[in-house]
Amino acid sequence: MRKIIINGGNPLRGEVAVSGAKNSVVALIPAIILADDVVTLDGVPAISDVDSLIDIMTLMGASIEREGDSLRIDPRGVKDIPMPYGKINSLRASYYFYGGLLGRFGQAVVGLPGGCDLGPRPIDLHLKAFEAMGATVSYEGEAMRLSTEGKALTGAHIYMDTVSVGATINTMIAASKAKGRTVIENAAREPEIIDIATLLNNMGAHIRGAGTDIITIEGVERLHGTRHQVIPDRIEAGTYIAMAAAIGEGVRITNVLYEHLESFISKLEEMGVHMTIEEDSIFVEKQGNLKAVSLKTSPYPGFATDLQQPITPLLLKTHGRGKIRDTIYEKRVNHVAELARMGAHISVLGGQIVYEGPNELTGAPVKATDLRAGAALVTAGLIAKGQTVISNIEFILRGYSDIIEKLTNLGADIKIIED
Ligand code: EPZ
Repeated sequence: MRKIIINGGNPLRGEVAVSGAKNSVVALIPAIILADDVVTLDGVPAISDVDSLIDIMTLMGASIEREGDSLRIDPRGVKDIPMPYGKINSLRASYYFYGGLLGRFGQAVVGLPGGCDLGPRPIDLHLKAFEAMGATVSYEGEAMRLSTEGKALTGAHIYMDTVSVGATINTMIAASKAKGRTVIENAAREPEIIDIATLLNNMGAHIRGAGTDIITIEGVERLHGTRHQVIPDRIEAGTYIAMAAAIGEGVRITNVLYEHLESFISKLEEMGVHMTIEEDSIFVEKQGNLKAVSLKTSPYPGFATDLQQPITPLLLKTHGRGKIRDTIYEKRVNHVAELARMGAHISVLGGQIVYEGPNELTGAPVKATDLRAGAALVTAGLIAKGQTVISNIEFILRGYSDIIEKLTNLGADIKIIED
């Protein structure tokens, strides 16, 4: 089993470039099933979720060439076959194949999705949208079968009971070639949704309102090829900004879209973090004493649930007490016990995380329980005195491309070992 070893205490200095957004590319790739020509994606991150999606798409019959951070995808050979469960349940985002296959073939037989353990992660809103568009849902063992019995999907007026990134994107994908108009109300507003809408529109779709809470899709007959640049990963960016504020002595994070991080940056400013916002980068100098703050996550443009874990080690260095409440995933607290093993004064109390700082962290053997918890443990390891050994690192490698190289280049003493 591979582990990450960090000898903590080295200050970070220099420059790190943010890669393409994981939560965009995991939807962009399945959406390309709808095209009747080649689509090339640029700025694709080197993460294992992308490897899994390439494997699945290739198994389905697509031909995919990778050149640096570009993916050239020819979906014309894709067949309407049951999806291989083995690969499917390695990532939750496999549910985007439902939208792609339904939109193209009017049928999808897919293994139920997997992903990080953040508590229950239903897909009822996805299925409700597909049924509203004329698909029937049935179960065949481990797999779920969505079918329109050979008819095309029809446009529908869909109200999302909960703001859902996945359900919003999946509905947009399926509706692109449906007959007639689809309206999604109470849609999620994340930047990744705009990115998928941009790709689909450049393929010939008619999507308006992406990024607002009402999205309108006029279905079209065919979608052609195009070339698309993946937006930068705002969660990776936030993770490195938190690392730089925690133990940096002058770090520039490049390929950052500031407007995607406004709630995160204003929280850092509330702590007293000094940063310089540049054209497409953020410069974080060495920090003095910082003030403890409390935060609550909410759908975009609120504070991202994906950043509450990565920011926590920085919070542990601040002076005072604070509370962290994740209103999207109540159970997204598995990193707390691991941080406590490193000496942090942090615990879960009545559905929220409470902490008191400042803390002197000590390296320890810890385990990543999900992707962003893993990122928090890496940051804690960089800060801690002594050696931190992180296991279950596959979670981290799913969402952070070249994290060892990027941190080594900044001066960290970090490596992966085979144990
Ligand atoms: C996306 O997950 C992201 N993943 C998550 O990032 C992110 O935390 C989440 O959005 C934030 O909302 C990808 O984009 C691949 P949701 P998603 O549907 O789409 C409930 C990471 O670390 N819900 O927006 O699965 C759900 O239980 C990952 O990169 C339903 O009830 O999340 C949750 O409470 C972790 N029924 C809330 O909605 C549904 O059918 C928001 O979930 C769907 C969701």
